Amino acid sequence: MLCLGIESSCDETAMALVRDGKLVAERVSSQVAMHSVFGGVVPELASREHLRLLDPLLTGVLKDAGVHRGEIDLIAAARGPGLLGSLLVGLGFAKGLALALDRPLIGVNHLHAHLLVAGLEEPLGFPALGLLVSGGHTHVYRMTAPDSFQLLGRTLDDAAGEAFDKVAKFLNFPYPGGRFIDDLSQGASIDESLFPRPYLDNDNLDFSFSGLKTSVANYVAKHRDLILPAMDTFLDPGFVASEDLKRICASFNWAVASTLQVKIERALDAFPETEFLYVAGGVAANSMIRQIMGATADRRGVRLILPRPGLCTDNGAMVAYLGFLLGSLGYRHGLDLEAIPRGRPIPDDFVAAS
Ligand code: KG4
Ligand code: ZN
Repeated sequence: MLCLGIESSCDETAMALVRDGKLVAERVSSQVAMHSVFGGVVPELASREHLRLLDPLLTGVLKDAGVHRGEIDLIAAARGPGLLGSLLVGLGFAKGLALALDRPLIGVNHLHAHLLVAGLEEPLGFPALGLLVSGGHTHVYRMTAPDSFQLLGRTLDDAAGEAFDKVAKFLNFPYPGGRFIDDLSQGASIDESLFPRPYLDNDNLDFSFSGLKTSVANYVAKHRDLILPAMDTFLDPGFVASEDLKRICASFNWAVASTLQVKIERALDAFPETEFLYVAGGVAANSMIRQIMGATADRRGVRLILPRPGLCTDNGAMVAYLGFLLGSLGYRHGLDLEAIPRGRPIPDDFVAAS
């Protein structure tokens, strides 16, 4: 089965082809440079860019794979959660293609696609716990099959990636700044008492990163010399970060990573039958989080399923892969498939394959 995956839920326009569970071609067109001058994603600009980029990306992946569009068996598109305008552009394109090629359509949950993408490169297994850490979400799931996710915990305010990006903004790093904090944290000394590990004094699996963010904001306000003079200072090849700046980044990074670890340990205690731990989403590219989750999985005797960093951030491969998995199980959607914006639950509105 050759499945085309279309991703347009935020600011990456991406497409990929997956044949029988293996990636055969993928292209990602990032809009980061365009949005970075605004310090965040501008939804209308994102929608317009998706509209402009989708067709050339399709031509590109077909060329890379050496296939004709008539050879596509199934069209998968991220149907949410995400920015509504962006999702609508991707879904409209997917529906048009499904109609023109007379092929079935399937809408996939962007978050589930993140969690399962590692299956392109290693065997997946269950029962599992899943930690999805991205720019918009911090979710803990219990997973028993590719189509069975139970949400156990979520952030009550900022997502982990949002906290990274906001802290980066306080320091005048380019947007999105998560990976710059990661870069500066590497090899830096960590002061574990500098910032609080937030929302641990409870017995649930929810998160709240806004207090940590405020604590860093207060610290930076008192140490204004840490703030870079211009947003592009970081990108200057001659830029050398001070030891203080590195320590702040590493200490914040540790507070996030350690908070995630505590909640995951708690989830493992609650579900002792767990055999696999999935960690995914853009923030799963973070070196310290990868290392801490690796150590946690080893200690707890569960297998860590972690996509390579290139597959952690938004991509089309994850959509094509989940489309393939669900399509193989007989799931489909009709052309009335709806886009679901962030904050609304994704309905189980599949229709049976005809
Ligand atoms: O999953 P993703 O690409 O998009 C969403 O669905 O949100 O995640 C993007 C988020 C951004 O907040 C970005 O700063 C963060 O992932 N991110 C990182 C790293 N790479 C990307 N955060 C920390 N360390 C990284 N290396
Ligand atoms: Zn994402």
